[in-house]
Amino acid sequence: MSDWTFKGFHDEFDRHVREQLPWYELATDAAVLIAKHYIPKGGLIYDIGCSTGNMGRNLNGVLLERKARLIALDECADMIRAYQAPGEAITADATAYDYQPFDVAILFLTLMFLPVAERQELMARLREKLRPGGAIIVFDKCVSAAGYEGTVLSRLTWHHKLQSGAPPAEVTEKEMRLIGVQRPVSTAEIAPAVEAFRFADFAGWIISNS
Ligand SMILES: C[S@@+](CC[C@H](N)C(=O)[O-])C[C@H]1O[C@@H](n2cnc3c(N)ncnc32)[C@H](O)[C@@H]1O
Repeated sequence: MSDWTFKGFHDEFDRHVREQLPWYELATDAAVLIAKHYIPKGGLIYDIGCSTGNMGRNLNGVLLERKARLIALDECADMIRAYQAPGEAITADATAYDYQPFDVAILFLTLMFLPVAERQELMARLREKLRPGGAIIVFDKCVSAAGYEGTVLSRLTWHHKLQSGAPPAEVTEKEMRLIGVQRPVSTAEIAPAVEAFRFADFAGWIISNS
């Protein structure tokens, strides 16, 4: 079985993500509402790992109202070609990109795909570039809880994936292809952060400097 990749997957992405993550819309809504709390007039927002533009589309209202600027990054050129949302979309590796001072950075289901060895340095660089009053918003799968509760949370995730109508074989195959490619985020990698969202193994955090 080959490793999971986003290359060549842009056409299927929007359907696939909703099947695999039934709470995707709810989490998107939460991330956008959180972001709104930290976007000033004329602010700069980064969407890191933007895929086809989910965040940008949902931020459109606040971008217009506050005349804020969005820069959307993805290392996958296919995703950037398929990007349909406001802002400037750039093909770039998030771990090597030279960020300008910004007000909000969103990593929505992205950090878990970055190499573990690069995560803390990226988070430190982002914290340095975060303007006062801004926030870094991270939504991701997180390291399983200890003991029996870890099993409970993992089954809760599987239960909802299967209930979404995704063929069970597809759900299982995806999980196997993610081995070593998607590694859940630990709170140590993003600390200090405030948890703002949770669905079983998936969580959302706010990292602010205020
Ligand atoms: C699950 S998708 C993100 C979903 C998206 N944020 C949304 O709102 O639907 C993960 C994305 O991260 C991108 N990605 C993975 N590694 C990256 C890297 N080093 N730099 C930039 N983007 C990366 C992938 O190409 C993929 O499009």
